[in-house]
Amino acid sequence: MKGVIFTELLDMVSQQIGQSDVEEVLNSLELQSKGAYTAVGQYNYGEFFAILGEFSDRLSITFEEMLNRFSSHLFSYFSKTYPRFFEGVDLFQFLQNIDDYIHPEVRKLYPDAELPSFSSKLEGDFLRLKYRSSRGLGLFAKGLILAAIEHFNEPVALEVKTDDNDQNSVEFQLIKTQA
Ligand code: HEM
Repeated sequence: MKGVIFTELLDMVSQQIGQSDVEEVLNSLELQSKGAYTAVGQYNYGEFFAILGEFSDRLSITFEEMLNRFSSHLFSYFSKTYPRFFEGVDLFQFLQNIDDYIHPEVRKLYPDAELPSFSSKLEGDFLRLKYRSSRGLGLFAKGLILAAIEHFNEPVALEVKTDDNDQNSVEFQLIKTQA
């Protein structure tokens, strides 16, 4: 996992609980990286989950709530850092662009990036988006999609279909509703 994900996570929690508590948490986890992340480095996914889990305990919120807060923070970082991905498109175009344009551009910047695939099917007011990744971060994808819905501020309902036999795939169904 790219270091930028870790540096943004630590940036967010530092604002909430302070730098010294963040360092204490990182030390307590005995991480292989020792918690020293650089934006362009590549680190183990396990560390991301360990850090998120520990901070959600400290903040007395669920793991999913912690992941949603972080997804919202990361989404806003992406929109400030790469505004061109967010301009001139609506929500459905943006979501279809993840696989067609955004992640391929990320791959050009970081050839070692570990990216999921999203296949999409648009039928009028209905968008079906299928996430697939060997890293099984469907919950993270959900958090980012929720952040996108908030960012574009369009009235849609989101349904998430998980498959108990396949952690690596999640289907998101978005239906436009009346404003
Ligand atoms: C709603 C929009 C988006 C969704 C749902 C999404 C989904 C994801 C997910 C789930 C991952 C984790 C890797 C995996 O599951 O295999 C990921 C990684 C990543 N995405 Fe996206 N993404 C979105 C938008 C963006 C945007 C706008 C950017 C930035 C321009 C971006 C850049 C990245 C980067 C840098 C990684 C890390 C790759 C790595 O760890 O090596 N994504 N994305």
